[in-house]
Amino acid sequence: MTQRGLARKVLARLGLLGLARAAFERIAPGLGLGAMEFPTFGPAVQRAALATGDYTRYASLALAIARLEEEGIAGAFAEVGVYRGATSRFLLRCAPARKLYLFDTFEGFPLADREPENREDARFRDTSAEAVRRALGAAGNVVIRIGRFPATAAGLEGERFAFVLLDLDVFDPTLAGLEFFYPRLARGGYLLVHDFNNPESNRACRRAVTQFMADKPEQIVELPDVWGSVVIRKS
Ligand SMILES: C[S@@+](CC[C@H](N)C(=O)[O-])C[C@H]1O[C@@H](n2cnc3c(N)ncnc32)[C@H](O)[C@@H]1O
Repeated sequence: MTQRGLARKVLARLGLLGLARAAFERIAPGLGLGAMEFPTFGPAVQRAALATGDYTRYASLALAIARLEEEGIAGAFAEVGVYRGATSRFLLRCAPARKLYLFDTFEGFPLADREPENREDARFRDTSAEAVRRALGAAGNVVIRIGRFPATAAGLEGERFAFVLLDLDVFDPTLAGLEFFYPRLARGGYLLVHDFNNPESNRACRRAVTQFMADKPEQIVELPDVWGSVVIRKS
């Protein structure tokens, strides 16, 4: 048994495991008390997931990617809504050989996409495609599409995807992302939408997912990560 496993066992016996987990996740996330004991991904990915402050979200991404690899599901990866590339870097660590498309204005929310609730929202402007490319190293399999999505998906109609992460925060491009990627997603491919259970922008992401999935055969699975992501696996 690992030292972490032993500590867990002792704390569980004392009825203190829940309390200890919450405290340690806050003050020392690197200890990984709440981490998977037997992840299907490697130790470097485990360490990276623990360092993010949202282990549930990143470990879920890593599990999905490990499953794609195990089942040999072909297809490109995409992240729509990249900001400074923190998650892009994680995706690349999990799947260094996959083609990875990254979409963002790199200037924050387009005015036309904003809703009354976030009309003045000026976040996510302090980035650039060059900074993201630098942060990702010289990976030749990374394709950065700069500008307002979905116009930036033009030319990719023939592409096939295995993993798509939508993290746009607002309704119109989230719905457009679902419309563009769903038919191009491989059987068994993953489509994840961040902020499903985030009330921001009048629950924009939940509205888009609920509207789009109303006539689809797949069910959604909600994750207990920090901002409430949702997972769809193509049948
Ligand atoms: C929450 S941030 C993404 C965070 C990133 N996924 C991460 O984990 O670090 C949302 C991003 O969506 C981008 N965005 C919103 N609407 C967009 C649109 N229509 N086209 C392109 N990018 C858009 C914003 O510029 C912003 O960088």
